[in-house]
Amino acid sequence: MTIPAAIKKTVAQLRASLNEHNYRYYVLDDPSISDAEYDRLFRQLQQLEQEYPQLISSDSPTQRTGASPLSEFATVTHEVQMLSLSNAFDESEVLAFDKRIRDRSQLNAIDYLAEPKLDGVAVSLLYQKGALVRGATRGDGRTGEDITQNLRTIKSVPLRLQGSAYPELLEVRGEVFLSHAGFKRLNDEQRKRNEKLFVNPRNAAAGSLRQLDSKLTAKRPLEVFFYGTGQIRGAVPDGQHSLLKAFKKWGLRVSPLAELVTGARGCMEYYGKLAGRRPRLPYDIDGVVYKVNDRQLQIELGNISRAPRWALAHKFPAQEESTVVNSIEVQVGRTGAVTPVARLRPIFVGGATVSNATLHNRAEIERLDIRVGDTVIVRRAGDVIPEVVSVNLSKRPAGTQRYKFPRKCPVCGSDIVYEGEGIVARCSGGLYCSAQLKQSFKHFVSRRAMDIDGLGDKLIDQLIDRKMVTDPADLYALTAEQLSTVERLAQKSAQNLVKALQRSKATTLPRFLYALGIGQVGETTAQQLAGNFGSLDAIMSASIEELIKVQDIGPVVAESIYTFFRQTHNVEVIRKLLAAGVEWPEEKIEVDLTKRPLAGKTFVLTGTLDAMTRDEAKVKLQSLGAKVTSSVSGKTDYVVVGADAGSKASTAEQLGVDTLDESQFLQLIADN
Ligand code: IVH
Repeated sequence: MTIPAAIKKTVAQLRASLNEHNYRYYVLDDPSISDAEYDRLFRQLQQLEQEYPQLISSDSPTQRTGASPLSEFATVTHEVQMLSLSNAFDESEVLAFDKRIRDRSQLNAIDYLAEPKLDGVAVSLLYQKGALVRGATRGDGRTGEDITQNLRTIKSVPLRLQGSAYPELLEVRGEVFLSHAGFKRLNDEQRKRNEKLFVNPRNAAAGSLRQLDSKLTAKRPLEVFFYGTGQIRGAVPDGQHSLLKAFKKWGLRVSPLAELVTGARGCMEYYGKLAGRRPRLPYDIDGVVYKVNDRQLQIELGNISRAPRWALAHKFPAQEESTVVNSIEVQVGRTGAVTPVARLRPIFVGGATVSNATLHNRAEIERLDIRVGDTVIVRRAGDVIPEVVSVNLSKRPAGTQRYKFPRKCPVCGSDIVYEGEGIVARCSGGLYCSAQLKQSFKHFVSRRAMDIDGLGDKLIDQLIDRKMVTDPADLYALTAEQLSTVERLAQKSAQNLVKALQRSKATTLPRFLYALGIGQVGETTAQQLAGNFGSLDAIMSASIEELIKVQDIGPVVAESIYTFFRQTHNVEVIRKLLAAGVEWPEEKIEVDLTKRPLAGKTFVLTGTLDAMTRDEAKVKLQSLGAKVTSSVSGKTDYVVVGADAGSKASTAEQLGVDTLDESQFLQLIADN
């Protein structure tokens, strides 16, 4: 059967268009069509190829779903050895590296290409006349395994290079990795299917590339960045920086963070900058790689055994380390939530010494089967709370026992009750529990609540332990003399604290409501309550039905507020606080919230704004009827992105949520 010319043309056009969109998406990071439109084009091509199978070519965008399983991988010899890198752990080693190169080259200042060192799996891809013909693992550097079928399934690996200016034979090298989001998705899937979880993104990427069935690899969200070359027949640019630019033109994805820097100083500046960004990057990096930019100089410098003299890996402090569990304890929070923590043999990880790691909840303890005496991998990334990643079972000492979650609160002895399908444990002691009491005091005095300066955690613990206070109203009766009897509190600080207490009495109704620590009532709800009811009395006497009428207050929150004000001890504390002189200006009752210009819109603020603080921006938005939340989800309408914005900006991008920069945000406010 002959194929109509029009069909051939459509197929060619669809392929070109899909390749172009793929390129824009993965390499330029600048898609011009929606995912849905892409899928439509893709399905159109798939249908035509099904009707006319003779038209299928191996570089068609549809041919990424995996081939028939292999029984083993063939061996590949690397014509140009795949080298490793020498490591540096501190500035002196970077200085020595730069000095060696200056000395050998007789140059005063060296230009380096600096880029992230990705924590993934090194691969090598061979393109002949622009077509991907082979892909291999690094192996021992001289021979690796042929994983072509697997690499073809990675969407950011071009099956055919772009343009025509590429060398006739081009071997490119890069790192295959999984993003944090991809890793999480993969492990969620594994968990659902009751299969073994991967320890970290690197192991997951390595495991995915080692599948003999490439249809499985195709399901893993692997990504790649390219950073170097192997064998070449033809011309390539003569600098590392211009090489990466050429890569990009040929459709090979490169790190957007690569930069040209000068001298050891430039290297160190880049290192500092990247270390700052590291916690917010969507994938793991374990350091920075500096490469002499000039190719001629690279050749002159040559290699020492298995590493080039012209490149250096400057490592970041490890984010994961191994240590031993000394004990497992539980902590009781303000609302009684009981959180297990592992007390660890102190270990330096992620740039700080860690001696506690959260174990989240009972389910997590069961998942890890963590026991006292176990050797565990601890992870601390950026400002994130340290956590236990896994237990090294091979190092488990004899005679350990499964951890038994306590049935009684270790602080007050009350029963522990379970919520949320038995995952969330809660102490039922309420304010009888001194742990909960201490946390409620800490909440009461915090900056966004009563904002009492100088009343730190340790002081609160002591005041409660010595029974100098039993409810927050007692704070206002404390004298400087009494306070100065507390350990380590100087006369002067005691006097300042009394002043701060006096000052805090002049507050606002929303702050006061928030300070009370009513379950489910955060700052936003407190503001909504104050705005809708106007007075504390009105809120205290509101029925559940009246409460539910307020924007964002549902049955659960309404019930919690209603119940709170029906407890005599709560009403008593409020009465004492008012008697002590806590007061606020009258609240204006707001007109129907749903009629305001931004009613029904949800915003998330991230990064720093020039014109106002985030809090001010929040109040502004709320006054226009908008809701401001702290995390980005499908329900978010806009993310306002200030300077140095973190992961929220990228989450917004991933979810396709609209973002506003500062000037767009100010415009929006002005318009409304
Ligand atoms: S260059 C001749 N650049 O690190 C230079 N390697 O420790 C060889 N790696 O096997 C490698 N990111 O798997 C280079 N931007 C980067 C890299 C990088 C990660 C890995 C690569 C290599 C290992 C060496």
